[in-house]
Amino acid sequence: MEAEDLKREDLPHTGRKALITGITGQDGSYLTEFLLSKGYEVHGLIRRASTFNTGRIDHIYVDPHVSDARLFLHYGDLADSGQLTHLIYNIRPDEVYHLGAQSHVRVSFDMPEFSGNITGLGTTRLLEAIRRSGINTRFYQASSSEMFGASAPPQNEKTPFYPRSPYAAAKVYAYWMTVNYREGYNMFACNGILFNHESPRRGETFVTRKITRAVAGIIAGKQDKLYLGNLEARRDWGFAPEYVVCQWLMLQQDKPADYAIGTGESHSVRDFVELAFRYAGIEIGWEGEGVDEKGIVRSLSPDLRNMTSVNVGDVILEIDPKYFRPTEVEYLLADTSKAREMLGWEPKVTFKELVRIMVESDMELAGVNLSFEGKKVLEEKGINWTKNVQTVG
Ligand code: NAP
Ligand code: GDD
Repeated sequence: MEAEDLKREDLPHTGRKALITGITGQDGSYLTEFLLSKGYEVHGLIRRASTFNTGRIDHIYVDPHVSDARLFLHYGDLADSGQLTHLIYNIRPDEVYHLGAQSHVRVSFDMPEFSGNITGLGTTRLLEAIRRSGINTRFYQASSSEMFGASAPPQNEKTPFYPRSPYAAAKVYAYWMTVNYREGYNMFACNGILFNHESPRRGETFVTRKITRAVAGIIAGKQDKLYLGNLEARRDWGFAPEYVVCQWLMLQQDKPADYAIGTGESHSVRDFVELAFRYAGIEIGWEGEGVDEKGIVRSLSPDLRNMTSVNVGDVILEIDPKYFRPTEVEYLLADTSKAREMLGWEPKVTFKELVRIMVESDMELAGVNLSFEGKKVLEEKGINWTKNVQTVG
């Protein structure tokens, strides 16, 4: 969404205030656009960094001195309960969307204590800040399908948790703290148990974005190879802008509850790789096994032959065991019956469309021309990723 759109006089001003932690992340940026389009005043928690970390929201930021500004950023950290309490007490938000976390599963094995502190205790700090401030607010906790871990698919709200990483264990703790504050203090607190959701704004080290950036980089001659870990893991991948609508919907219900959100379709990392390269015009084949397996160019589309120095027979993918996890989540697949029934929510963007959208976006960033089919898909479905989610939901 462009800044001018946000200042449009005809946008409704609901007078409602939201506070978003993790506003600079993938989901935070889409949720901010969505809430602004609904007329909210949005406050976001940002971390002080020596470089700018607001790249995902710069396009919607309006100088707070502008009279109709409705987006305000505040320094803070999920490790700092004093500042969280100060912000909650003074902003007095109607809705709190707690999206901030150390959200990378692989990194959580390297930094288990830090991940527990931020991803787990961060939720408790925020819940306590709300309770101690005595304000009446609705609270959204960004819970995760990672909590299901080794539990067999399909997974829903009743599936037992079996966390397989420090990240997932921290999210299980935060999940139960949210339930506890709902039951103990009558707080309107919801867990959104979201399955993987991706977009052109996905962090570059999550597997989908790593793949789509590599596709573009290899074709543009900026990267030789893509190194990955486990190709067999299966995920239920959806399109992030659609998922933030669910976060909002959960807080608009009469009663607080927990919901699993996904597409109901699961694919392997290998499926994603094959489709991403195919969309860009490269047919990838496989040779070898285990850590010696390689992805090799089998054919190139006629269009691509004039645009790249990649040749048939080139090795463009290898396995690097450093990306394996000590404990892996093998198979995630959402059963979203409850969300469909209670929230009336259904995802519109399919797996194939998601891959196209992401490949196309990274090709554009790498300066490679494509047909822009992905953008057409979004426009047809009423989702415009640059003007964004105003028309979703
Ligand atoms: P993301 O892109 O990694 O964003 C994480 C956000 O948390 C960033 O704004 C980050 O700030 C902030 N953050 C990290 N540590 C912080 C700290 N100590 N204090 C304050 N803020 C901190 O994650 P996402 O994909 O948008 O996901 C949003 C939430 O949903 C996360 O809680 C994630 O665990 C959860 N979730 C995500 C998915 C998914 O597939 N995307 C699925 C289920 C659940 P910086 O920008 O400064 O790093
Ligand atoms: N990141 C990464 N990098 N993952 C790889 C790689 C690689 O090089 N190679 C294979 N994978 C596999 C991982 O082992 C995992 O099974 C799968 O790809 C997906 O990894 P990520 O994209 O890192 O996501 P995730 O599923 O671990 O976690 C994401 O989704 C969760 C919801 O289920 C994150 O967004 C979490 O914050 C979120 O809670």
